[in-house]
Amino acid sequence: MRKIAPSILAADFSNLSQQIRYVEIGGADIIHCDIMDGKFVPNITFGPVVVKAVRKATKLPIDVHLMIKDPDNFIEDFVNAGANYISVHQEEVVHLNRTIVKIKDLGAKAGVVLNPSTPVSTLTEVLEFVDFVLIMSVNPGFGGQKFIESTLNKVSQLAKMREEMNLSFEIELDGGVTSKNIQKIAAAGCDIFVAGSSIFGQDNISAATTELKNLVS
Ligand code: DX5
Ligand code: ZN
Repeated sequence: MRKIAPSILAADFSNLSQQIRYVEIGGADIIHCDIMDGKFVPNITFGPVVVKAVRKATKLPIDVHLMIKDPDNFIEDFVNAGANYISVHQEEVVHLNRTIVKIKDLGAKAGVVLNPSTPVSTLTEVLEFVDFVLIMSVNPGFGGQKFIESTLNKVSQLAKMREEMNLSFEIELDGGVTSKNIQKIAAAGCDIFVAGSSIFGQDNISAATTELKNLVS
């Protein structure tokens, strides 16, 4: 089953629990949390305290996307805050295998993220250990950016590698997802669709969630 993961980066933080309720009503499967530190990416968002508040607001799985320096130092804090999925960037983590094992040992699903300029071939040696791979379809740091078309190819390549290697990790894509492009992303082999502005930027958040979900169901 394909999953919709609204990114709260684009939500109204003055009313976060209500905004989460809206996407739940619309059929959201996962809540995506973007953690930025102003170093790995040129923007700052929030940390475990807010993830803990999200945990209180929903029973849906929480997907924590770590766009921070030295993510290993914070994995435990995010698991304790209620994260169910945790992903780290290939570009930042030197000992990827160790980090993946650490996330899984703490009881969360482990994912690796690739920036648009990083090839999928960099993951050959870790694919058998991951629960999911997150393909960035914009340069990380901000919501509302334009989808980079060439990243679709990376989704297809990854889906092909998954089949050839007889593996079952999920493929997630993040950035610039809209009702116009979501079907071609699904056709390339994507399982989890992160969407910020095309959900929380709309007047009817629940209807926008349902629309995306129906397009890939
Ligand atoms: C970007 C974040 C995304 C962002 C997506 O660095 O990782 O999750 O919220 O936002 P949209 O859907 O608006 O491109
Ligand atoms: Zn993200």
